[in-house]
Amino acid sequence: MYTHHNNALTLNDVNTRVRLKGFVAKRRDLGNLVFIDLRDREGITQLAFDADNDLKSIAQALKNEYVIDIEGTVRERTSKNPNLTTGDIEIDVDKVVVLNTAAQPPLLIQDDTDALEETRLKYRYLDLRRPVLQKLMRLRHQMMRATRAFLDEEGFIEFDTPVLTASTPEGARDYIVPSRIHKGEYYALPQSPQLFKQLLMVSGFEKYYQIAKCFRDEDLRSDRQPEFTQIDLEMSFVDQQTVIQTSERLVKHIMQTVAGKPFDAAFKRMTYHDAMRDYGTDKPDTRFGMLLKDLSDILKKTDFNVFKSVLETGGSVQAIAVKGGASAYSRKAIDALTEEAKKHGAKGLAFLKFQKGISGSVAKFLSAEETDAIQSRTDATEGDLVLIVADTPAVVRKSLGHLRNHIAKTQNLIDDDVYDFTWIVDWPMFEYDEETKRYYTLHHPFTRVIDQHKSSFVDKPLDALAYCYDLVVQGQELGGGSMRIHEQTMQQSVFSVLGLTEAEQRRRFGFFTDALTYGTPPHGGIAFGFDRFVMLLGKTKNIRDVIAFPKTASAQCLMTGAPSSIDADQLTVFKPDTPDKTDV
Ligand code: AMO
Ligand code: AMP
Repeated sequence: MYTHHNNALTLNDVNTRVRLKGFVAKRRDLGNLVFIDLRDREGITQLAFDADNDLKSIAQALKNEYVIDIEGTVRERTSKNPNLTTGDIEIDVDKVVVLNTAAQPPLLIQDDTDALEETRLKYRYLDLRRPVLQKLMRLRHQMMRATRAFLDEEGFIEFDTPVLTASTPEGARDYIVPSRIHKGEYYALPQSPQLFKQLLMVSGFEKYYQIAKCFRDEDLRSDRQPEFTQIDLEMSFVDQQTVIQTSERLVKHIMQTVAGKPFDAAFKRMTYHDAMRDYGTDKPDTRFGMLLKDLSDILKKTDFNVFKSVLETGGSVQAIAVKGGASAYSRKAIDALTEEAKKHGAKGLAFLKFQKGISGSVAKFLSAEETDAIQSRTDATEGDLVLIVADTPAVVRKSLGHLRNHIAKTQNLIDDDVYDFTWIVDWPMFEYDEETKRYYTLHHPFTRVIDQHKSSFVDKPLDALAYCYDLVVQGQELGGGSMRIHEQTMQQSVFSVLGLTEAEQRRRFGFFTDALTYGTPPHGGIAFGFDRFVMLLGKTKNIRDVIAFPKTASAQCLMTGAPSSIDADQLTVFKPDTPDKTDV
């Protein structure tokens, strides 16, 4: 073993004899003197080989990432390094054993490596040696422990539900696995353990949790992986308020454990309707203002054709005001904002500048009463820029909601130390998609319609609200859950609204709707995106930084080469008549 980790020794240890092990992080050869930085998972210690040290030639032959075992005596350094815990001392080495040599690494093993992400992912085991990733992996571990400790204390039972299973709808495509024994039949990897956790409530366990692997074949983004981890909870005999409160305590416990100090900021609540109205999105970033303002009533009688025609066809005209934006945004900068808006569906972006009078692309098309009313509606004052989009309400929200985030990011209006936890509540149960001409659930089909809409939702699906809640922070969805349907009849009605025939319901969910008839307690739960939570506390915007072996944006593992083709040999095992070799 070793006597100390490489971050441990200080002036208090001077003259102590120590044995250290680790990787060679750096060698500085001054000819008569050689210094080595020895790195292990905890930190760095400087090793010194003086002019008269017999081992100097061995030290001179050491290369980066060699694994060594040394012994020596701690002494005070002449030139100290205040950035290192061990920066006041060094080791006067009198024994070196090379435990292993190392090839020249294809990337610099340090925080600010210049390697391409492709190289880093291909040699992920070396990338993971970088201190920054070591810290994030250990943060992940710490958060997992805090989760288990809290939920165990609260009486939750940890389960592990199947990975080879049938499809669980969460709105993405399934990953499927062919069955060898049943030719032409497939398992699906779970998009979430949703049905299993509900069935465990039917089984009477009352409080379930799992740190669950979920698999979703969907388009990837910086906060999405095809294989990710949830903190998944379910509780019986509770109402929405209890699930929300338990979740808040869990989140606070984890924050507190990681930060080492109490975290008791109150979580806000906002209805889905208000979030969409004020922020244009169901995951509002509430750390800054710039709210969306509806100008439709003001412009009802406008002569400006673009706005008029949109309003006449049931569209909406809305705006955001950028403080100080009149001089901060040149014509060219506004063109760039227009491109941003167009990426999110807008056909154009109109603007007004309130600076020494009124100017801007639409100033000459609007009356003085209209611009006055716009200024007052958007609270614009001297020096502000007002950005306006006219389109369907959905496009207006999407494009202005995006611009709001984009501007805040580029103008540095966002403080990453602020955790604006907000519950989004009172969700509609269904939405209608014009393209496929059918209803979809906003959460999932097991979500309970609120009692007041229980008898009307089949006839008026778009008016129905659900007992559903998302936890949003810093403009990101951290978790989502709902109270569940516990009566078979409501479950069947929801499936019917979604367009599932009785036969389809039986084939896909018969096992589940049957279970609901055997005395199912009222229940509800939630799942948090664990990787996203680690990103939040680790302050990284890239989900790959918090997963040891992540996939690329095109769902590949560059290290193992997965997904890959398989040998014809391997394919034959899918024939049911091939004997299973492991059985003989
Ligand atoms: P939902 O689909 O909202 O709910 O997922 C819950 C949380 O999981 C995280 N998440 C992801 N994280 C990384 N990569 C992904 N591809 C990904 N997809 C989702 C998000 C999200 O808030 N069964 C329900 C929960 C319930 O009703 O109890 C469910 O899975 O942070
Ligand atoms: P036009 O008359 O087409 O030149 O448009 C005048 C101004 O209105 C320009 O600044 C356009 O960018 C803007 N504009 C055009 N279409 C829209 C729209 N749908 N929403 C907001 N502004 C628009």
